[in-house]
Amino acid sequence: MDCIVLAAGRGTRMKSRLTKVLHTIAGRPLLHYPVRAALDAGASHVVVVCSEESMATIEANLSPAFGHAQIECRIQTEPRGTGDAARVGIERCNSDVVAILCGDTPLVDADNVRALLSELREKKASLVVQSCVVQDPGSYGRIVRNAEQNVIAIREHTDLRDDYERGVNEVNAGIYVGKREVLSAALDRISPNNRQGEYYLTDVVEDIAKFALVVARCGNPDSLRGVNDRIQLEEAESIMYQRIARRHSLAGVTIRGNARIEDSVEIEPDATIEFGVSLRGQTKIESDAVVEVGCVIVDSSIGRNAIIKPYSVIEKSSVGVGAQIGPFARLRPESIIEEDAHIGNFVETKKTVVHRGAKANHLSYLGDGDIGEKANVGAGTIFCNYDGYKKHKTIIGPRAFIGSDSQLVAPVTIGPGAYVASGTTVTKDVPADALAISRVKQENRPDYAARLRARLASSAGKKP
Ligand code: UD1
Ligand code: CA
Repeated sequence: MDCIVLAAGRGTRMKSRLTKVLHTIAGRPLLHYPVRAALDAGASHVVVVCSEESMATIEANLSPAFGHAQIECRIQTEPRGTGDAARVGIERCNSDVVAILCGDTPLVDADNVRALLSELREKKASLVVQSCVVQDPGSYGRIVRNAEQNVIAIREHTDLRDDYERGVNEVNAGIYVGKREVLSAALDRISPNNRQGEYYLTDVVEDIAKFALVVARCGNPDSLRGVNDRIQLEEAESIMYQRIARRHSLAGVTIRGNARIEDSVEIEPDATIEFGVSLRGQTKIESDAVVEVGCVIVDSSIGRNAIIKPYSVIEKSSVGVGAQIGPFARLRPESIIEEDAHIGNFVETKKTVVHRGAKANHLSYLGDGDIGEKANVGAGTIFCNYDGYKKHKTIIGPRAFIGSDSQLVAPVTIGPGAYVASGTTVTKDVPADALAISRVKQENRPDYAARLRARLASSAGKKP
């Protein structure tokens, strides 16, 4: 089987500068879904029909995702309709059977395509069309049947002819599997005699039904939604998210509420994903990890038994086994939080390794650092890593203690077991087991506050 994916339409209803089929749902462009469905259903060759303007972007987008091997992009010079686009594609096909999918129908999957293929064989049909029954047929093409219930045409909504056709609520899902030679000949015969002046792929049905069998296979309307505008984009996306969440639930993951998990994310059984979580890109969550309410995790890995407390944001980082993050923590790219380490509220890390069992529990900026095993970084510690030109490293040895409200001016190294007193500005390396302290000596002035208040009050004309 070969497959043609139609993706050259103008997509005017999206009102976008971006080609319609590259708009994303659940983290992948619309176009990726039918291409993958075709490959998974066994297509040996996929021809993506693109417009001249979008060809380069589409190719650049497809090749990293699928490789070049089985996918080819072809240009439809003018958007003269789906029939014209299919003709461009079918020229590049040579298998006996051709599947035609639309780039804007992302909920189609390999099972859909396989089911059409078996129907083609079992019924010895020349063409099988996927249909579905919907309450509001809107702008979908209507499946027209004769008195014997045989499919005789697909009528586009702008060209409906009579009350019978207007009353039809079985619509064309835009997924077709047919014999290549029959399709190819029919595509050569269709004409743009319709309201929109386009070559309709759907017109091959009326043509072929005159001499061979066309079957409409009725399926689940959700799988077949086309995306023509942003409302349909949102609808397709929420169905996709539900599907992905169900797949993980069935595989043993507890998923609560409206977690949004992209297709590319891996989750092991017995992990828990709470309400309002967004997991994106190449993210992996290991078993028994808990991702609490409202977290956003992008391209990161979360180890077994780790807890990501509410509203933490993690990007391109890794969190080790049993580590605790948040609430309200922010791990920026290249943060490596090892086993049993703790990163608490309002702590920001970037390009920093926090070794096993180390803790930074409150209000800190830890950039370009290396924090040794079991070290403790107190509240309000800042790694002063940037001089306006370059980034510098802060290294903290194992078991070192950094008192609250300290600034470590990088490059600087705090030796193992060293102690930095609260409020210290560290500008020189601190040897192992030494104490670093840099503070102005405290002075208490008895009664000074009371006298000050009295003076200030009298100058304001008030009682102290
Ligand atoms: C099409 C069907 C309609 C069906 C619906 C299902 C036709 C005439 N109508 O309508 O029966 O119910 O899909 O979603 O086929 N395209 C090209 N070149 C073109 C025009 C379109 O490649 O010249 C591509 C588009 O990029 C899109 C697909 O073909 O991916 C469908 O085109 P679209 O204009 O969205 O057709 P619909 O009006 O949705
Ligand atoms: Ca469409």
